[in-house]
Amino acid sequence: MSNNYHFDFYLAGGYNRAMSTPARVTVFDTTLRDGEQAPGFSMDVPAKLAMAQALDTLGVDIIEAGFPIASPADSEAVHKIALSVRRPVIAALARTRPQDIEEAAQALGPAERSRIHTFLATSDLHLTTKLRISREECLAAAVSAVALARRFTDDVEFSAEDATRSDRDFLCRVIEAVIEAGCTTVNLPDTVGYATPDEIRDFFAEIIARVPNAGRAVFSTHCHNDLGLAVANSLAAIQGGVRQVECSVNGIGERAGNASLEEFVMALRVRQDRLPYDTGIHSPAMFETSRLLSTLTGEPVQANKAIVGRNAFAHEAGIHQDGVLKDVRTYEIMRPEDVGQSVSSRLVLGRHSGRHAVQSCCEALGFTLTHAEIDQVYRAVISLGEHRKAIGDGDLRRIVDHVRTPSSSVAATSSAPGEAVGYGHGV
Ligand code: KIV
Ligand code: ZN
Repeated sequence: MSNNYHFDFYLAGGYNRAMSTPARVTVFDTTLRDGEQAPGFSMDVPAKLAMAQALDTLGVDIIEAGFPIASPADSEAVHKIALSVRRPVIAALARTRPQDIEEAAQALGPAERSRIHTFLATSDLHLTTKLRISREECLAAAVSAVALARRFTDDVEFSAEDATRSDRDFLCRVIEAVIEAGCTTVNLPDTVGYATPDEIRDFFAEIIARVPNAGRAVFSTHCHNDLGLAVANSLAAIQGGVRQVECSVNGIGERAGNASLEEFVMALRVRQDRLPYDTGIHSPAMFETSRLLSTLTGEPVQANKAIVGRNAFAHEAGIHQDGVLKDVRTYEIMRPEDVGQSVSSRLVLGRHSGRHAVQSCCEALGFTLTHAEIDQVYRAVISLGEHRKAIGDGDLRRIVDHVRTPSSSVAATSSAPGEAVGYGHGV
């Protein structure tokens, strides 16, 4: 681990800066396509539009707005997003069938900048069991789909579904042929989340070295999270040469999801020393975007989710609270405000809390207590924490009142709903 971290971070007001300008990685957001097609995450047209506007504010480069042939609502959502979200490129998914591509092109019609994203599986498993076509038929379908898509837009992405389990020689042939047909972005998905980081880095490095016209396209990664490796694999793919990462807000997507946008972006930002790449993401908008998605879909974000989980910057254990009160760098590697989380949610009072945190929370509420009073409040907090998951500002106020005026009752305390999670204490 580099020691520079301690000098750069906070003191210089930034993260661990690399010496040279970081290379730019394009963020292709698939929240509204791969994410939205996962069970429990479907969104109606107004919800998709609201999410697309938030993704624009977040700074994603490309919004994959949907799969128009899949349903009239999907097509309408892509159309409305294309009409009203003007900065990012708007992409639409299509199989290699001409109807799919024409429907995608029509839905994308009003876009300022549009991308047709066509895909076909290349692994023998998918070709023989699912599609029941030969390799040669696959190659021909991929080439004609790209050529047709190019009639509607100069920006065409081809995805070789199940690429990481495909025969390398055949995959290289397909990639060379689609680039020749006009494909500008080659996406090689780890469709079933089977790859490991070293493997996917070598995979991209090998493919890019072997495909003669690789320099004429941007290579892209699209990792699924079946083994919990989607973000690690995406970072490794960048090291292997890709310059576009497909990801989603809160990591939503088929099965265990896609690479989480928040985690991938912050890994690059915090570890510039190891990963000298950057994105155009406005990270302080992450938390709000994450919560908007959760509200629109009714699916909560897990408390311990990196970056945007409510516990990502929360400390309840006494030793940790003490460390954070003395120097936040003891237990935090980034600033909550840099990802849009509230600094005031850092200290959570509960049965694991320490005296320093109790004192600090009392001070944040405007109480100046004597040593003896702090001691009593601390013991009351620990005791209440035996019955409560967390202690809110209301509880703390009543405890302080009780300590100062013993006739007042603590037992009858009950926090307002927002307080029960222990948020609202400043460090
Ligand atoms: O996981 C996958 O292979 C996909 C493609 C359609 C890009 O989602
Ligand atoms: Zn996918």
